[in-house]
Amino acid sequence: MDREPTRLAGVMGWPVAHSLSPRLHGYWLREHRVDGAYLPFAVRPDHVVEALRALPKLGIRGVNVTLPHKEAVLRAVDDVDPLAARIGAVNTVTVESDGRLRGRNTDAEGFLTNLASAPDGFDPTAAPAVVLGAGGAARAICVALLDAGCSELRLVNRTRARAEEMRDDLPDPVEVIDWAARGDILDGVGLLVNTTSLGMAGHPPLDIDLAALPQWAVVTDIVYVPLRTPLLSAAAAQGHRTVDGLGMLLHQAVPGFEAWFGVRPRVTPELRAHVLEALG
Ligand code: ATR
Repeated sequence: MDREPTRLAGVMGWPVAHSLSPRLHGYWLREHRVDGAYLPFAVRPDHVVEALRALPKLGIRGVNVTLPHKEAVLRAVDDVDPLAARIGAVNTVTVESDGRLRGRNTDAEGFLTNLASAPDGFDPTAAPAVVLGAGGAARAICVALLDAGCSELRLVNRTRARAEEMRDDLPDPVEVIDWAARGDILDGVGLLVNTTSLGMAGHPPLDIDLAALPQWAVVTDIVYVPLRTPLLSAAAAQGHRTVDGLGMLLHQAVPGFEAWFGVRPRVTPELRAHVLEALG
């Protein structure tokens, strides 16, 4: 009888060398003793469709998709999950048994699962949420929060038109707020999310006055380099519960690993430590 072939998957990006996904999936492959490999694929934007089409021919079970390919891949796959269509981006591709390419988005799930790790948990239905930024990550996070029953979402972006465009694509009411007013809309808010690049190593910090944010509010950042961003430090110093951005990266990877390698992996403190080691 033929032995089952080594299971193959990877991540497509441009550049891709900085991606932590190979390290993270490699940990799970070893932990679960899977006969498999997860590789970084540096794919130029003008080659992404060809590269995707080659996956079934190479016997590759699927890929994660990272910058700048998330929107292009949405258009290139055969079937798009409804959630990915609503978010407007694909971060996980699976090759189905008939060779068709299916595009999914696991960022929303990763965000919510990570948030649930806040001390005492987090209830998205309890109070309004404020999302800073209107890029691809913000879109996944807004869809996640609205689907989870958040009834009041305030979207704040430096370029207001971009936030308005996003609001118009979302099914539920979202209030767009001027960037200059970001510190003035925190009254009664239960969640503050930074999805901008502010606070990332090499970028200016996010300048926001947290004085009006209720003590019980959770503050989270999708930036994870550094892990403790100036925003999270300031929030913790004022007694807020904080959730760092690394957890979202780890949790969004779970469904892909399960689809390609047949085991649902867990996000553990050991996995976090292993990935953090690479971040220095
Ligand atoms: P992605 O799609 O990966 O989320 P992006 O499109 O580069 O990334 O978006 C980055 C976010 O950070 C945007 O909301 C951007 O605001 P603009 O839409 O106005 O560009 C925000 N951002 C980046 N630098 C900023 C700055 N100096 N001040 C305020 N917001 C900033």
